[in-house]
Amino acid sequence: MLLLSKKYGMMGCCLVRVEKTYDDTVRIWSENPADTEELGVVLGGILQPGDLFFLSGELGSGKTLFVRGLTQGMNSEELATSPTFALVHRYEGPLPLYHLDLYRLSGPEELEPLALEELLEEEAALVIEWGEPAKEVLPSTYMQVEFRRGEAENQRLITFLPSGERYRVINHLLAEELKKQAQR
Ligand SMILES: Nc1ncnc2c1ncn2[C@@H]1O[C@H](COP(=O)(O)OP(=O)(O)OP(=O)(O)O)[C@@H](O)[C@H]1O
Ligand SMILES: [Mg+2]
Repeated sequence: MLLLSKKYGMMGCCLVRVEKTYDDTVRIWSENPADTEELGVVLGGILQPGDLFFLSGELGSGKTLFVRGLTQGMNSEELATSPTFALVHRYEGPLPLYHLDLYRLSGPEELEPLALEELLEEEAALVIEWGEPAKEVLPSTYMQVEFRRGEAENQRLITFLPSGERYRVINHLLAEELKKQAQR
């Protein structure tokens, strides 16, 4: 696949690689937990009300760590942790963040009381782990973020797949911001 930009830059403590492709997909190679967290920090500075992110990837692939970075980047009043909450937690801050983890969802009937569509109408952003069942009730414009383990123990490939113009713009801003950081 042709690359619009390909670069190596410093993030967290180590070298990461970022690619943006012609279909506006962004791929990031994270070499350690700090890279993944820092990626969340950068994205946290870009998020706007109504932004919707689905995070997919096996257990322990780094989804929650990434959300922890988001809460840092959004100057939230507390940092995200692996959910001790039932299914949803709201992090307060200049832009509140709803963090949902639907791993323990036992069936679609448990979704209704969460009123996800209403959360999206609030001045808040929404990030959902294990969110496949929620796609039925939410808009078809969102960012899918896939977390995959690499060959090395601490390596992860994180892919941002945009659906809709807003999410292509986010990928553009994200790639630009990471490029700026690399030049610092
Ligand atoms: N490059 C990396 N990025 C993220 N996490 C990493 C990385 N390398 C190692 N890790 C470790 O992997 C684990 C990721 O845990 P985390 O809770 O974020 O995963 P998760 O995808 O949310 O899992 P779950 O599906 O169970 O919620 C942490 O223990 C972290 O230290
Ligand atoms: Mg998690």
